[in-house]
Amino acid sequence: MHLPVLCAETVELLDTGRGGCYVDCTVGLGGHAAAILESSPEASLVGIDRDEQALDRAAERLAGFGDRVQLAAGRFSDLRQLMTDLGIDSLSGILADLGVSSLQLEVSARGFSFQRDGPLDMRMGLGERTAKDIVNRYAEEELGKIFREYGEERHARRIARAIVNRRREEPIVTTADLRRVIERARPRSYKQRIHPATRVFQALRIEVNQELEELRQLLDQAVEMLERDARMVVISYHSLEDRLVKHTLRDLATGEIEPITGRPRAESRVIEVLTRKPLRPSAEEVAANPRSRSARLRAARRL
Ligand SMILES: C[S@@+](CC[C@H](N)C(=O)[O-])C[C@H]1O[C@@H](n2cnc3c(N)ncnc32)[C@H](O)[C@@H]1O
Repeated sequence: MHLPVLCAETVELLDTGRGGCYVDCTVGLGGHAAAILESSPEASLVGIDRDEQALDRAAERLAGFGDRVQLAAGRFSDLRQLMTDLGIDSLSGILADLGVSSLQLEVSARGFSFQRDGPLDMRMGLGERTAKDIVNRYAEEELGKIFREYGEERHARRIARAIVNRRREEPIVTTADLRRVIERARPRSYKQRIHPATRVFQALRIEVNQELEELRQLLDQAVEMLERDARMVVISYHSLEDRLVKHTLRDLATGEIEPITGRPRAESRVIEVLTRKPLRPSAEEVAANPRSRSARLRAARRL
């Protein structure tokens, strides 16, 4: 069962009582989408996901809302085009609940989790490159860079070298193969709170799905599509995403800097940030849904 993260907070910040058309850019299993639709009979919703399996599940879960729901297969970096295809030109609210769904994590065949043995895949949708392609083909320096930048992994170079040595003998094809290589590459004295494979798996998932580039493109388009007073809510699960959201919202809320005075031009402000600090789940929510542990929610209102 997938529990939507920070659900009540999301619905409240989206201010769904105003009605109109909301987009859930990451409809997943439809948890947040159902809550949005339940909260306001005036609201309709478009649910986007790049994962066809997730869309099937969302369709089942949201069937009771009839024609108030439309689902669209695709990437949220294509938001503008997807909305044009549906004949929608402005939105009452936008939600993005980033990362992977519990369905993706729990199905071994998707290869997202080092805790389940499966093919080294990690594609959310039907992209071209899998984690196996990256692990077996990228140069050592490139692998090290990805582990350092996307995983913030201290032993990035060491792990990249171990991968390259191992793949000279035979390709690394399963999540368990990769997990073993990482476990052996870790320095003996090195102790950490999380499993040593956590950061490398996160980094590969970000690279496979181009997650930061997707988010960058979504943020660029989302604000333009919001009506006046409409809200945007983004829930992220690691610091790279959260930093990108925080900086983008701050820039849009500050407006352009006047070259002569060096001060921002108030009339060029596009949004108001509604969350000075990101919202975090309560201890009770984390206890009920450990996946929510790292969630940070930021919201903004279109001016
Ligand atoms: C955390 S889950 C969303 C769960 C959902 N809020 C719910 O309550 O069921 C994230 C979903 O976003 C999808 N996703 C991630 N990146 C995407 C992208 N760039 N474009 C479209 N969907 C994406 C994933 O396939 C996954 O199903």
